[in-house]
This record gives sequence, structure tokens and C-alpha cells, in this order.
Amino acid sequence: MNLPSPILDGHISVENAIKNRRTVRSFIDKPLTIQQFSQLLWAAQGITEHRGFKRAAPSGGALYPADVYSVVGNNCVEGFSAGIYHHDPASHSVEKVADKDKRKAVALASLRQMWMASAPVVFVVTAHYDRITIKYGDRGIRYAMIEVGHIGQNIFLQCEALGLAAGIVGAFDDNRVARAINAPNKHEPLIIMPVGFRG
Ligand SMILES: Cc1cc2nc3c(=O)[nH]c(=O)nc-3n(C[C@H](O)[C@H](O)[C@H](O)COP(=O)(O)O)c2cc1C
Repeated sequence: MNLPSPILDGHISVENAIKNRRTVRSFIDKPLTIQQFSQLLWAAQGITEHRGFKRAAPSGGALYPADVYSVVGNNCVEGFSAGIYHHDPASHSVEKVADKDKRKAVALASLRQMWMASAPVVFVVTAHYDRITIKYGDRGIRYAMIEVGHIGQNIFLQCEALGLAAGIVGAFDDNRVARAINAPNKHEPLIIMPVGFRG
């Protein structure tokens, strides 16, 4: 499913976004527009150069070991049914990789942090280390983790700019989360970010 093009200016300064960013753990029951959903994925992993290769977040050796999976509930993003959606940065589109609302499964796998399931969209950012260790050896694992941190901050700041809010979760059972989102072999979940309107 193609996503709308990102909007490249806004009304909130970077300074304000940094100042106001907080981890939010309560969300109201309000869907994201497809434009907001698209914008968040673009901030996370969108292509930002004319040549069509480099992305919004930096990457050691531009090897891009990260993937973003969106766990979407019913009536949670305009025009989307519940399921897991994998983002393809090159085409700025998402592909549905699993049916059903898996937000509770992800929250349960995250030491029962059930507040996570109240967010309309829960982003799970994974890393496939082989893509980067092939060049950097074990140090590539560090690079991948650092990169995912950048992706997380981009999501946080884009939320601020859109009047949305995000949480961030590192406390989870890796295998259970990977199973819940139907992640391919070797895609290791590193951070989870529930996103929506602040409750
Ligand atoms: C790597 C990482 C893992 C985190 N894991 C959790 C978590 O599992 N649950 C949670 O409620 N908050 C989690 N947090 C959020 C922190 O508690 C939060 O960032 C910290 O209290 C500072 O607050 P702020 O983000 O509002 O500035 C995590 C943050 C980071 C960076």
C-alpha cells in the first residue's frame, strides 16, 4: 500500500520539539490519519536524498540494518485494517505481513506494559545484524543499536511536530515480540514505540 508523500515543513521548531519531547504512556482512542502515519514512517526510515538511497536516520556505512514494523489496531489508521505492516523505504509503502490486532500481544510480551496497547499504532524497530556485520564484524552490532536509537529520536521529534506523542519501550521478551509481529528470521526487535494522541 503506497503512502502519501511526506510534508517537508512544519510549524514547530526543532528546538521546541526537543524541549517538549517526553515519554508518554497514555493515549486517547483516536485514529491517526494516513498522512500522519506516512510522516512518522518517513521520519523513521524515509529516503531523504534525490538519488533515492540515503535515509532520514544515519547508518554506519549506509548499510541500513533496521526495519520498521507497524502494529496497527482496528480503526486506528484511516483506511487501514488491523494488522502488522512492514515499511519499504525505497517505495515509501507498507506491506501487510500479518492480520489481526497484535497490540495486546506486543504489550504482554513487554512485561505486561498494557498501556502500550492503548496507542493506535505501535512501531517495532528491528535490526538484521548481518547487513552490517558483513562489513564491520561484531562492531556492526553496536552500530545497528546506535542507528535504531536515532530512528527512535526521529519518531519522537516527528510526533512533537505533528501534535502526537510517543512512548519508548526496551523491556520486552525479544522472541515473543518477534513472533507477535511475524518478523522474519534474524530481525531482532530493539525498540518499541507506541504512538498516538496524548491521553
Ligand atoms: C532504551 C530505552 C528503554 C526504555 N524502556 C522503557 C520501558 O520498557 N517502559 C517504559 O515505560 N519506559 C521505557 N523507557 C522510557 C524511559 O523511562 C524515559 O525515557 C525516561 O524516564 C526519561 O523520560 P523522558 O523520555 O520523558 O525524557 C525507555 C527508554 C529508553 C531510551
